[in-house]
Amino acid sequence: MLNKDWSHSHVNFYAIRRYLYPNLALAMTVPEKYYNNDENSFAYTTVRSRWPLIIARAIEDVKSATLPEPDPIVHKLGQLIANFTADAPLIPFTDDQVALFPACNHYNRVIDAEGARWKWLSAPWLFSECYLYVCIHLCFLEHPNVQWHTFDVFAALKDSTFLQLLHGVAELCARYHALSSDLSVNTDKHLLRTLFSEFIDISLWGNATDLSLLAGSVSVADIQSVQGAQVRKQNESRILANDTEQAWSHLTSDPESTRVDIVLDNSGFELLTDIVLALFLLDSGLGSSVHFHCKQISWFVSDTMEKDVAKLLDQLLDREFYKEAHSTPASSQGLSLVAQHARRYISSRQIIIESHPFWTLADNFWLLGSQPLLRSELRQSALVIFKGDLNYRKLTGDLQWAKTTPFTTSIQHLASSAIPVLSLRTCKADVVVGLDAGTDERIAKEYAAMGNANGRFWSSSGKWAVISFSSGNAE
Ligand code: F6P
Ligand code: MG
Repeated sequence: MLNKDWSHSHVNFYAIRRYLYPNLALAMTVPEKYYNNDENSFAYTTVRSRWPLIIARAIEDVKSATLPEPDPIVHKLGQLIANFTADAPLIPFTDDQVALFPACNHYNRVIDAEGARWKWLSAPWLFSECYLYVCIHLCFLEHPNVQWHTFDVFAALKDSTFLQLLHGVAELCARYHALSSDLSVNTDKHLLRTLFSEFIDISLWGNATDLSLLAGSVSVADIQSVQGAQVRKQNESRILANDTEQAWSHLTSDPESTRVDIVLDNSGFELLTDIVLALFLLDSGLGSSVHFHCKQISWFVSDTMEKDVAKLLDQLLDREFYKEAHSTPASSQGLSLVAQHARRYISSRQIIIESHPFWTLADNFWLLGSQPLLRSELRQSALVIFKGDLNYRKLTGDLQWAKTTPFTTSIQHLASSAIPVLSLRTCKADVVVGLDAGTDERIAKEYAAMGNANGRFWSSSGKWAVISFSSGNAE
């Protein structure tokens, strides 16, 4: 069932975009968004089942925090659940809220332009989900005690899951340990090409570690099952589009420009895979610097904030946190080596950790033109790696593209923005592009044969993945 609201028409999309961003060039006609009232979209169950669980867990974590007076926050979070379960309208943020968190202005402009009639249970999925996390953030910012303002309500979940993924952590650190001394001396291009592909794959499957999925039918055991080297090998056929070769050629084509950017997704195991990818690039000389782009606020449960990077490195070194791993010298050395090398690169500013408010707006990434400074930064990069599902949804606008649409079409202006984009994404939502004809149908049958009632939901199961590249130089 598609939402019939007037504001969903294509014509109106252009009018709205012109209103919001008058200086951006317009592109071809684009398809509909995904809406929360579409039973054929993962939005439907996300909004009705997963959000309430995520917020209920957040409430428990607020109650058990050691900070004073949690009640106002508990009350506001409860109110938020009540609002979306009762299908209340998405209302603009107040002036006081804008003063506390200026990005609220962006959300208000969108509501003003096209969302006057949006309600929680039928609004566009991408916008409403981003808006939800801003609402959660405000519950903390509005507390009179400033200690709550920087409280990451998902920190406890991030930590406990990272602890449970110990075996994947030890295996990955051991892999880096075994390679690291060779990397700085080995200039064999063929070998580096093979290792590039391996570390890209590791970083890709690291994206299966999205803690917001723990609020659905996915378990920690499921997450562990896609992380080992052996399983990665078996899962090669589950990468449905793979542009690694093009990304490699692009990265190695210009010896002058070797800055790499990673627009991070989840903290914990996925972040570790990204750190190891960065270490590989820097050790081998393929990259001269790696910029990590984090989120400024708690976002989609497990997303990486700046503080999470230092915390993860501390945890790797912490003999109490990873008692078992540190009890054997070989595995202890692996964990320590990764942490020490990452710290060294951070001190020498070859790993640069930053965050920009753009990453927590609801905008799709074609609208990067509205952020001239960030855009010109990213233009200096030899490769901008966008991690994960939400970044993919924002790259493609979270629109109902035919699954055979070329990736470069789906990212619109970005394809000609002079920003080289590499997306590493395990599929956890509806939108997927760049597939060969017949692939969607084949995988849907396969997924149904695995005992799932509706085969089309393969694309939100996290069991398949895509690696998609755009040089940024399309005409
Ligand atoms: O809540 C659902 C969901 O929004 C996904 O569909 C989504 O994009 C995901 O959570 C977060 O995934 P990731 O951490 O890979 O961006
Ligand atoms: Mg995430």
